[in-house]
This record gives sequence, structure tokens and C-alpha cells, in this order.
Amino acid sequence: MRLRHLLEVDDLSPAELATVLDLADAPRPAPVLHGKGAALLFEKPSARTRNATEMAVVQLGGHPVSLRGEEVGIDVRETAEDLARTLSSYHALIGARVADHGVLERMAAVASVPVVNLLSDRAHPTQALADVLTLRQHYGDLAGRQLAWVGDANNVFRSLSLAATMAGMSVRAACPTGFGPDPDHLDRVRSGGAEVLATTDPGEAVRGADVVVTDVWASMGQEDEADERRRAFAGFMVDEHLMGLAAPEAVFLHCLPAHRGEEVSAGVVDGPRSLVWPEAANRMHAARGLLAFLLGDSPLGGSVAEGSV
Ligand code: CP
Ligand code: NVA
Repeated sequence: MRLRHLLEVDDLSPAELATVLDLADAPRPAPVLHGKGAALLFEKPSARTRNATEMAVVQLGGHPVSLRGEEVGIDVRETAEDLARTLSSYHALIGARVADHGVLERMAAVASVPVVNLLSDRAHPTQALADVLTLRQHYGDLAGRQLAWVGDANNVFRSLSLAATMAGMSVRAACPTGFGPDPDHLDRVRSGGAEVLATTDPGEAVRGADVVVTDVWASMGQEDEADERRRAFAGFMVDEHLMGLAAPEAVFLHCLPAHRGEEVSAGVVDGPRSLVWPEAANRMHAARGLLAFLLGDSPLGGSVAEGSV
């Protein structure tokens, strides 16, 4: 069976994405990791992703082994390729959060088990799965719904814009000049026939939207740019005024960690339209659905990866 990796959401087809979400909602998943291990490697800090993915592995009958970047020294102590080959010999799955997306591609090229992106500088696909799961639980069918992104067109935006449009939504992104989506990414999202608009006006993006989403202005690894970005993103805070332009029942998402008073006001993130806590909880359910798909006998052909145990 073909080995499947998930480095970005569109490694799945739209039908496969729906299957992953169905598996995430399934109350009693098949123990596809029974007696097997999952290596989870983190080059950057994590609260949600590490805990959600470890617990998803446990719920599928497996044993997670989390590793910090500094203890394995990717491309310092040994190459990413040698590490991927080594971890493949103990584990049924490798998950990795890396500074450089290229490292994931190199690991996936030589691994003999699925490699899952747990966040890179370019993408955060497991977050996007949880976000679309949260929206599907809230709204049901997402076809025709409108998602507004306000802020940096970063890793979270890239994955979410793919996942949302694959689920039938349209996307409008409002980003300061110089921080908007790159044309290649817009082409990639539009290649599936999706409607995507890029603007520098938060009001234009949010007007009538069913969902408003933001993320930090300075991502992990961009700490040195924080002051400059704070200046560039002035006027892009999602606050009560901006939410007031959205549809009357619009909801708010944020992957967390959040900075109240910067990209989002406390009144919005802690307010009645915020779904950030179900969204955070869904990281575990979405991870479980994804691993069940990649490691199980899904009707749509997820691979059966042979663990070493
Ligand atoms: N949303 C998210 O990925 O959180 P962590 O960085 O805490 O894993
Ligand atoms: N864009 C953020 C997401 C954190 C979960 C970052 O990369 O730091």
C-alpha cells in the first residue's frame, strides 16, 4: 500500500479530508497503533500540538515518544535523513515540528513510515484540520460559508486557506502590505476552483463573514521582528468593532497562543462568539482522525504502515 505523508493539507484530496474529519468525530476509533510507537519531534515550543498528538496516539493504542530538537540535533548531531531512517525502524509514524519545511520534505523522502507536519515555517496542517472540524461541528455543511483571515498570511493561514476551501468555503484575507499571501499560494488554493480574495482592508475581508480568524503577528522564529511587526499590523486587531461587521452569528477562531490586546481583543477571544476552546480540544480529535486515516484501512486508501513491534 502507498505510504502517505501529510506535510500540507492538500496532500489529502477534498474527499479524504472529509474522511479524516469523519474519523475525528468517530467515538471508538480502531486501535491502529496497538503495540506501536510514534516519534514526535519538536524543534520549537508546543503546548497543544504535543499534548493533543500524544493523546491521540494513546487513544489509538500506541506509545508516543516526544523528542526535543536539541536532544537529537537535526543536521547538527546527524542529518535529518539519518534521523528519519532511524526513527522509522522503531515507530509506525514520525511527527515533526521544524523551523525549516525543507527538513520535513527530506525526512519524508527517506522515511519508511508516514511523516506528519506538526508545524513548519510554511504550514500547520494539523491545526487546519482541527479548525475545519470545529467549523463543521458548529455549522454542519461548510459549502458557501465565508472565512475571513485578518493578520499575517503565515503558516496557519496557508494551511487553513487550503482546508477551508477544500471544504467548500470562500476565503478573504486582510493583511498589511508586505505580509499578504504569496501569489503561488493563492494559485494553489484557487487550483481547486476556490474563491479567494486578498486585501489590505480588514473591514472588506470581514464584512458578512461567517468565521473570523487571526493568529500572532510574530510567529516562532520571528521574535526579533516583533516590534516592527507590531507597527506594521496596527489596525489589524480583531476587536468587537471588526466582529460587528461580520455576519450576526459569526464565530471567532485562533490557534493559540493568543496575545490579548495585540492581534485580538480580550473581549473577542474570551467572548460569546469565540470557539477557541473547542478548537483547542479538537486538536486531539483531528490528530486521532488523521492518524487513523494514515495508518488504518480507510475506505479511501490510507496506508497500513508496518511498525517494528
Ligand atoms: N496551536 C498550536 O499549534 O499550539 P502549540 O504551539 O502550543 O502546539
Ligand atoms: N504562526 C504561529 C502558530 C503557533 C501555533 C507560529 O508559527 O508560531
